[in-house]
Amino acid sequence: MIQVVFEKEQNRAVAMDGSRIAGECVFTEDAGTWNIVHTGVESEYGGQGLAGRLVDCVASAAKEAGVKLTADCSYAKKRLGLDGGQENAFLKLAEDRFSCRKFSDRPVEDEKIEAILKAGIVSPTAHNMQPEKIWVLRSEEALAKARECTQCHFGAPLIFAVGYKNEDGWVRPSDGRPFADVDASIVGTQMMLEIHDLGLRTTWVGFFDAPKLHEKFPEMDGYEMIALFPTGYAAENAHPSHMHNDRKDKSELVEFL
Ligand SMILES: Cc1cc2nc3c(=O)[nH]c(=O)nc-3n(C[C@H](O)[C@H](O)[C@H](O)COP(=O)(O)O)c2cc1C
Repeated sequence: MIQVVFEKEQNRAVAMDGSRIAGECVFTEDAGTWNIVHTGVESEYGGQGLAGRLVDCVASAAKEAGVKLTADCSYAKKRLGLDGGQENAFLKLAEDRFSCRKFSDRPVEDEKIEAILKAGIVSPTAHNMQPEKIWVLRSEEALAKARECTQCHFGAPLIFAVGYKNEDGWVRPSDGRPFADVDASIVGTQMMLEIHDLGLRTTWVGFFDAPKLHEKFPEMDGYEMIALFPTGYAAENAHPSHMHNDRKDKSELVEFL
């Protein structure tokens, strides 16, 4: 498997296939700005999305280091949305997001937790009823209890839990359909995308023992629990699963009328 590694001393991200260099993304550094000057992948490694991974690796390192990122390299410029294609920044984020199932121990900064919560709180909800509730599980005690409720905690140092109450949400009069589950899903989605945008990673986890979660967390009483988001910095060898690129054909999913 090809590993993408950030090498600060060499001002580059490098893709390694065992001991062989498959590609690199090189930047210069000047007055708090990193400038990507070259992105290249060996021809036999083409078509695997390696160049994108290399640029993204430098971009998240720049974000973590708090430095500005620019690019003279035309590929990186396009990838980073600096070529006037900014209108696609959201699409790039949506495409880049993947379910991460391996985390490092590095703790998540409080300001990032606040940004993730804000992304959830500003979500649209039916009739603006806001039937959702978000729990931030970050104490060792809370994390230990959550880990007893799912195998899909992936050792993350932080878990967000999202739930809702039907009685707090809007109900469509024509057929009595409650919309609180839709509202809470939008909240979860916005949080999930903000997590990725911050350079953190997560997976939407629905496979947990809901009755046990309620037993362990009386605070969640009366709430339907729809998601746990194990969240943190990706482990070095974290990667998208094979399912990440497996989508039904557009013709199956979309119909123009
Ligand atoms: C509602 C929902 C529940 C999910 N539950 C789990 C889960 O319990 N465990 C898990 O590993 N992944 C879970 N996933 C992640 C999906 O498996 C994943 O999104 C899908 O395979 C596509 O891969 P990608 O997210 O990397 O693009 C869930 C995703 C959604 C939207």
